[in-house]
Order: sequence, then C-alpha cells, then structure tokens
Amino acid sequence: MDPIEVLMAEHRCIERMLKVLTVVAEQVEVEVDYDSFEKAIDFIQNFSDKFHHAKEEGEFFPLIESKGIPKESGPIAMMLQEHDIGRNYVKGLVDSLSKYKEGDKSQSTAISSNAQGFVNLLAEHIMKEDNILYPMGNQVISDQDRSSLIQRFNEIAKDAGESVPEKYHKLVNDLEKKFNIS
Ligand SMILES: [Fe+2]
Ligand SMILES: [Fe+2]
Repeated sequence: MDPIEVLMAEHRCIERMLKVLTVVAEQVEVEVDYDSFEKAIDFIQNFSDKFHHAKEEGEFFPLIESKGIPKESGPIAMMLQEHDIGRNYVKGLVDSLSKYKEGDKSQSTAISSNAQGFVNLLAEHIMKEDNILYPMGNQVISDQDRSSLIQRFNEIAKDAGESVPEKYHKLVNDLEKKFNIS
C-alpha cells in the first residue's frame, strides 16, 4: 500500500469522528454526554494525534522536507501550527468538561465552542493536507522512499499496539450507531 494512501485513509476515519463530535457538541445545551465526549477525546488524543499526527510529524513531514519542501515557511509550518492549535482546543475541551462535572454549569459554552472549534480546524486541516501538502509530497518522494515510509508506519503501528487502528475504527462505528450517523 502507498504511504500517502494510508494517511488519507486515516483522514477518512478522523472525518467520521468529526461528524460524531459535531452531534455531541450540538447536544450540549440539552445534555452533556460525558461518555461520548470521553470516547471522542480518547480517539482524538490516541488515534488522530499520537498515531496519525505522529506519522506526519515524525516521518512524512521530515521526509518531504529533506526533498526540498521548506519547513519554516509554507505548508509544513502551517500544518504543524494547526496540530498545536488542535491540541489547545482538546485541552480546553478536557478542562471545561471537568469543571462542568464539578458543578460549574457555565462551562457548557466553552465545551461546545472548543469541540466545534476543533471540528472546524481539523476538517479544514485535512482538506489542505489531502489537496495541497500530500500531492506536493507525492511529487517529490521516490518508490524507495515510499517503501521505507511504509516500513516506518508499520513500526509505529507495532509500537502503538497492533490493535490501535481496529480499536478506534470500532469506537467510531459504535458512536455512529449510537447517534444514527451513516
Ligand atoms: Fe496533519
Ligand atoms: Fe493528517
């Protein structure tokens, strides 16, 4: 399999979770569904960030940088910055959820704005990678690069635990069922 296709397949899975999170965030005015928020946060931290972003930040971006795509300016710098903005939204979401749980009901606004902010950011981020950065990378990497990238991706998957993709695909499936999202 091609490493860029692997990354794009992960984007499709992340987009499904963004749909779920949109629904969970919209419901905040009626009910704060801790269980679904916790599952979404687990997915975002361990699949989107530690798994997918780790492949980008640790492997794919450095590789295409070594092939002449500049890191300090342009799309790589922008993507790295957006990963950080996303982490801040998630931190805001975790903090506001725990304050709400402790009784501060005024946190509901912060819960939904952090969740929605994250969804909007990541949806656009994925579009930029799919349509701009990945095609740029596609043009500069060789067949040899592709096979070593796939090898590194497999090692990352092994380190994360073989079941990481399966676990998080199942988590998305379960939440889609719960919210009748097809
Ligand atoms: Fe990214
Ligand atoms: Fe990505």
